[in-house]
Amino acid sequence: MFALRLCSILSIIIILPSLLEGARILAIFPFPGPSQYINVLPYLKALAERGHEVTSVNAFPQKKPVNNFSDITVTEVFQSYDDLISSMSEAKNSWHLNNFMNEFFISVTKAVLNNKEVQRQLLAPGKNHFDLIILETLRTDALYAFSAHFNAPIIGLSTFGTDWNIDELVGNASPLSYIPLVTTGLTDRMTYWERVYNFIETSIAWVNWKLKYHSVQIKLYEQFFPHLANKVPLLELSKNFSLVLLNQHFSLSFPRPYVPNMVEVGGLHISHKPAPLPKDIEDFIEGAGSAGVIYFSLGSNVKSKDLPEEQIQMLLKTFASLPQRVLWKFENDQLPGKPSNVFLSKWFPQPDILAHPKVKLFITHGGLLSTIESIHHGKPVLGLPFFYDQFLNVERAIRSGFGLGLDHNKMTADELKSSIHRLLTEPSFATTAQQMSNRYRDQPMSPQETAIWWTEYILRHKGGHHMRSAAQDLSFVEYHNLDVLGLFLGIVIIAFIAFKLILRKLWGLATHQKLYEERKLKDQ
Ligand SMILES: *[C@@H]1O[C@H](CO)[C@@H](O)[C@H](O)[C@H]1NC(C)=O
Ligand SMILES: *[C@@H]1O[C@H](CO)[C@@H](O)[C@H](O)[C@H]1NC(C)=O
Repeated sequence: MFALRLCSILSIIIILPSLLEGARILAIFPFPGPSQYINVLPYLKALAERGHEVTSVNAFPQKKPVNNFSDITVTEVFQSYDDLISSMSEAKNSWHLNNFMNEFFISVTKAVLNNKEVQRQLLAPGKNHFDLIILETLRTDALYAFSAHFNAPIIGLSTFGTDWNIDELVGNASPLSYIPLVTTGLTDRMTYWERVYNFIETSIAWVNWKLKYHSVQIKLYEQFFPHLANKVPLLELSKNFSLVLLNQHFSLSFPRPYVPNMVEVGGLHISHKPAPLPKDIEDFIEGAGSAGVIYFSLGSNVKSKDLPEEQIQMLLKTFASLPQRVLWKFENDQLPGKPSNVFLSKWFPQPDILAHPKVKLFITHGGLLSTIESIHHGKPVLGLPFFYDQFLNVERAIRSGFGLGLDHNKMTADELKSSIHRLLTEPSFATTAQQMSNRYRDQPMSPQETAIWWTEYILRHKGGHHMRSAAQDLSFVEYHNLDVLGLFLGIVIIAFIAFKLILRKLWGLATHQKLYEERKLKDQ
């Protein structure tokens, strides 16, 4: 712990010289799910605190003014989010699912570009200038044009790690043999058939984007950036990212390769000093005695109050039968029949609660931020995944040995109770969680400091073009060396044909000779 603190102090001293000049930064984070913005906001605010002037396009504006930080609010994105959530469950196959996702990204792109304030402050020619663009890499490619529009370098930030689409922004390589598509729920250790499945799913996603939706983004680019569209193709802009920051870390997922301008900053939002808890929560936790406290939250997208009534009753009955106290993130004020060992609240300071030594277990939907927070604080998890990468995160927790998972649709009171009992009584879960925490925390700089250091590196080096991989200037055929393979294949084919011709010739000669000799024999 001391070493870590010393490192942070040292790194702040190292970072200091760059404070000299403030840059104008345009941040574009319009994703309507709150957890994405929770992930990046502390980093954006830290940039503002360091004297940069941050303009943030987002759906969750600040309630109180923040120095050097201004919002451009795009609440229009919420409509498309509701549509996405309702259509996701209707997807019949991967192609449909990809359609929904890509259409959602298109409606987010449109919502941003059609927004009055975006048009007034950003799109109107000569209105504004920025030194750096930072945006979420969400296949909203038309928005990448802000980089050329302001003639500023662009940094991508992904709140879940990389995928094939994000790799293409910087020319990163992700071999499909051990790097699973996030939505498959597979891990880096795949069986033969899992590799087949991963290959097919990734190809479907790739083809769906290349054939159907990339062209839609190009049309939006042409419509909203006509002054650029006839000068530089959109594809060129999306291959010109200076840096991509990933909310991921090898100690949380698995070891894998990255190009130098792709940097892991998993847990970007976590602050190192837990804040004191509100009085009522503190008292409730402290009063729990040696049995400890369970923290139960399904995150910001799934609402506990929307669970089926019989499931809520089952959860209540199970919690009532436990010796522990339970903090439950519940979105209604009232819950009839709430036992006295359960504390309800619409909102909890989650990281500060997980930091409390009396909190022994986290029952979670398995979102990435929650998973990282529980690892950071070394707490075992019981995962009840709902969608997207949550299945993968819970699967990893199970494989790593610091968690268990249940199907929230089918679990019975007995299963829930026995899982909780195992997690609290078998010491291996807590030990593994602590070990994961030690590995994760042992970094030269905190994730937020790392992100800030690299961001300012890009500013100091005018876009850091020296880090750009040569892969970005190769075509698909060249990148995969298909032309070189083609040459060798050609040589083999030519050699084979030549060999066949020679054989035929020799055969002909031999038969000729034989005939000749036979004729000679006959003549004699
Ligand atoms: C940004 O913050 C710095 C330090 O607080 C201040 O000196 C500067 O004037 C601010 N810039 C703007 C545009 O508010
Ligand atoms: C790519 O980025 C560099 C550095 O930020 C910049 O100088 C260059 O103009 C960009 N190229 C295009 C096509 O936008």
